[in-house]
Amino acid sequence: MRNIKYLLSYIDLKMPLHKKKIDIILANKDIFFIQELESFLADYSRYLEANNLSIDYGLDAYIKMVKDMIKCQIKFMRTGNYPVSNLSNTIADVYNNKEAMLSYMIGLALSQYLWESHYKILQHFRTALIDNKENIKKYIEIGPGHGLFLRHAITNLDPGVDFVTVDISRTSLEISKSIIEHAVPDKEVRYINKDILSLENDQQYDFILMGEVLEHVEQPELLLRKIHDSMATNGKAFLSTCVNCPAIDHLYHFKSVDDIRSLFNDCGLEIESETVVPVENLPMEEIVKKKITINYSALVNRKKYD
Ligand SMILES: C[S@@+](CC[C@H](N)C(=O)[O-])C[C@H]1O[C@@H](n2cnc3c(N)ncnc32)[C@H](O)[C@@H]1O
Repeated sequence: MRNIKYLLSYIDLKMPLHKKKIDIILANKDIFFIQELESFLADYSRYLEANNLSIDYGLDAYIKMVKDMIKCQIKFMRTGNYPVSNLSNTIADVYNNKEAMLSYMIGLALSQYLWESHYKILQHFRTALIDNKENIKKYIEIGPGHGLFLRHAITNLDPGVDFVTVDISRTSLEISKSIIEHAVPDKEVRYINKDILSLENDQQYDFILMGEVLEHVEQPELLLRKIHDSMATNGKAFLSTCVNCPAIDHLYHFKSVDDIRSLFNDCGLEIESETVVPVENLPMEEIVKKKITINYSALVNRKKYD
């Protein structure tokens, strides 16, 4: 487990308290997870090197992201508000800032395995994908960011599936493209650099993936209605978002899991399965009272009476 050992010693050096948190997470994992993490880290190091980056760059990016999140969290605890409030600032400071976005997305990729809440959402997605595999011919991902979900979908669905992906950030699209070229070099994907809200509604998809984008827009109901209208009659969408989760690019503040559920319902989406994972291991009453972040994902379909 050479790669895991290196990661732990690197994080211990730069952020010892956070390393203790990871130790606790890993202590509760089985051997299958540990093997998966080791092989992810080995592959991700090769990917970073092939793109003139290094695993140390990736680990620094991860540490920076954790520190940024802690700063946002402290501000949120003091004021009750998210640190940013309008899209144009986020576009300039984050999405169009190549250096910042590259570091943010690479750090986020590592969190997919290192944070219990992110890993549980990844597992929910994998199950939803496999359960619906037979019906998927046209697939779209909105906001692929680091591209790990896109890679998982491409490697697990039939080779003939048509893939489209849309991201407001050119850097995110470049990262997604590079991870697909690393893992599945022959796969053709349509990469569209646009705000999803400005994409024409002229296509319908069997499966829509939108991970952690809903909280990035000012009016999530517009986005959910668009998703509803872009789903084929028997199509499915896998959506993830979060409650009380301040970050450098989060604009919309969901205050409870029920806020999310009722918005889905208002937009004609029926929940088939969901994952609700607080980021701290505390009783739910305490999570709610202390406004601790809750990660959320749902597999949804179009309500039948629409
Ligand atoms: C936090 S990342 C999520 C990455 C990945 N989907 C995941 O679940 O970990 C959010 C991504 O959504 C993109 N994004 C944010 N707002 C968007 C919009 N209005 N249209 C398209 N992409 C958007 C960002 O550029 C970024 O790549």
